[in-house]
Amino acid sequence: MKRFPEKRVAITGAASGLGLSLARIFAENGWKVALADVQDDAGEAAARELSARTDAFYRHVDVRKTEDIQQWHRDILTRWDGLDILINNAGVATHGPIDTAPEEDWEWVIDINLMGVVRGCKVFVPTFKQQGSGHIINVASMAGLLHSPEMGSYNATKAGVVAVSETLLGELAPYNTGVSVVCPGFFKTNLAKTARSPDEGIQELIEKLFATSRLSADDIARKVYKGVEKREFFILPHRFYHALWLLKRYVPGVYLAQMKTLGRKVAAKRDKLIGREAKA
Ligand SMILES: NC(=O)c1ccc[n+]([C@@H]2O[C@H](COP(=O)([O-])OP(=O)(O)OC[C@H]3O[C@@H](n4cnc5c(N)ncnc54)[C@H](O)[C@@H]3O)[C@@H](O)[C@H]2O)c1
Repeated sequence: MKRFPEKRVAITGAASGLGLSLARIFAENGWKVALADVQDDAGEAAARELSARTDAFYRHVDVRKTEDIQQWHRDILTRWDGLDILINNAGVATHGPIDTAPEEDWEWVIDINLMGVVRGCKVFVPTFKQQGSGHIINVASMAGLLHSPEMGSYNATKAGVVAVSETLLGELAPYNTGVSVVCPGFFKTNLAKTARSPDEGIQELIEKLFATSRLSADDIARKVYKGVEKREFFILPHRFYHALWLLKRYVPGVYLAQMKTLGRKVAAKRDKLIGREAKA
């Protein structure tokens, strides 16, 4: 990270889960941290915790509102006169088969997960261009690369984040500004608590999937920090999902057959969970 001697990072969704772990790892490494979230009590508490070791401050920033991000951007420039790394991390989860997932859930998740990232990039990129330095870390998901059944809206937002990130990799190269996209599998955070689905019991199912992860939010944050240090574009913390992605790229027929099998299993599990007979 020698390329960023001033060590200034800004993180959305920093009051919980991966965002909070990222804030801590950057602070431990001597970075100044600007935290943004919509959970003000948790965000203020995180900033107080980090202030013991670095310059940290919290702002209420709803990534659905461009004016919130613009105000945060102005506060950062006033305080630090620039920024080195922007982490677009804020996100929510959705689930649901295409025929029953409400359109409102699609709009909600697109507005936060995809448009939130787009708005963050739009507001901060002029600063990076002007500085001739900077780095953007967009938090996508393995769902952006491997599209499991019954997660259409979430998958679409994360695939969109991967696409925007790759686009910016080339677009910002002339301005000495790097880009990384983080694609983790499941790991335990508070994401299930706000997840939306037409089916009851999905939050419990997500919690169960979280429990299968060997990596914690802190482990993922450490891997992100190392990945950015090494200027990696794709940061894929879970080895198993990384291997699946290689399977998709190099042996797509086998991968797609597995997705159909998974679809049958997921439908059977969901039907059992919500007390209906499995269709298969
Ligand atoms: N937990 C997982 O298994 C997993 C896997 C892959 C990717 N991710 C991604 O990691 C990122 C962080 O999620 P997490 O798992 O730490 O969940 P989390 O719920 O613990 O943290 C998400 C944070 O984003 C904030 N947030 C939500 N909507 C917001 C908005 N409109 N404006 C500003 N902040 C908002 C929440 O208040 C929360 O503090 C998300 O983008 C998520 O999609 C998570």
